[in-house]
Amino acid sequence: MQIARTKQEVRDAVAAARSEGLSVGLVPTMGALHEGHMSLVRRAVEECDYSVVSIFVNPTQFGPGEDLEAYPRDLETDAKLCEGEGVNLVFAPSVEEMYDSNSCTVVSVKGLTEGLCGAHRPGHFDGVTTVVCKLFNIVQPDRAYFGLKDYQQFVVVRAMTRDLDIPVEIKGCPTVREEDGLAASSRNRYLNERERRAAPKLYEALLAGARAAREGATGREVERVVAEVLGQEPLFRPQYIRAVDPETLTPLGDSSGPMVIAAAAYLGDTRLIDNVTVEG
Ligand code: PAJ
Repeated sequence: MQIARTKQEVRDAVAAARSEGLSVGLVPTMGALHEGHMSLVRRAVEECDYSVVSIFVNPTQFGPGEDLEAYPRDLETDAKLCEGEGVNLVFAPSVEEMYDSNSCTVVSVKGLTEGLCGAHRPGHFDGVTTVVCKLFNIVQPDRAYFGLKDYQQFVVVRAMTRDLDIPVEIKGCPTVREEDGLAASSRNRYLNERERRAAPKLYEALLAGARAAREGATGREVERVVAEVLGQEPLFRPQYIRAVDPETLTPLGDSSGPMVIAAAAYLGDTRLIDNVTVEG
């Protein structure tokens, strides 16, 4: 497995693979790889002849006061995990390699980025779409793999790809969870023992909301159910709880039907997000 630090090394390696007629898959990550990431990696390796994992803690998607400096970084372990799964190339650029010092272009998706996490993390999705667009241009994969754990990110990246005619197929992969239901996340390692014990309540609350939705509850009623169950765990400080249309991400309000129930909540200083989908 090759580890590339520069865009040119990536372009050369991918060009060589392409010249052999190989299909190319990309899994964009910020590293600190866990089972959630690895499920994407396995799928890429399975479905593509040549698999690339990018590992880049992207500063432009972190807001002031967020955890950019504290974000866990461990390239050596991450590279070993990738190698163990049969990844062909890990792309781990520096910030200077990724962003030209005169860089002045931002890729911005409107509408879809206004609610949910976008409402609480101004500029976050501009950072995500800009770096993902750059990664698509650097790697030029046939397929790229994203987790449905970050549902809004998945929908936003899919819209960007469609709107900018980027010839990449976007694949959404199911959320991987710990045994007690907590969604795997690089940020889970910030939780202390007490917080970790409380953490599965978030998924439990979303499941209660999903049950209500299946019994015909409206978006607003579903949100109330989720808030009530989450409220049973006093350590949680909810940031938002929303039942939204799976395509447009607009709140369902007084309507019922297919929905994604998404929530963000703080446990101490750690912000957790999760969601469940209720099919029609
Ligand atoms: P990161 O948080 O490292 O996540 C990388 C990918 O792994 C994302 O597509 C995310 O949705 C997926 N993922 C994380 N936890 C998961 C879980 N429990 N189950 C399934 N998939 C999971 O998301 C980012 O990085 C960045 O915003 C990035 C897209 C790399 C752009 O910088």
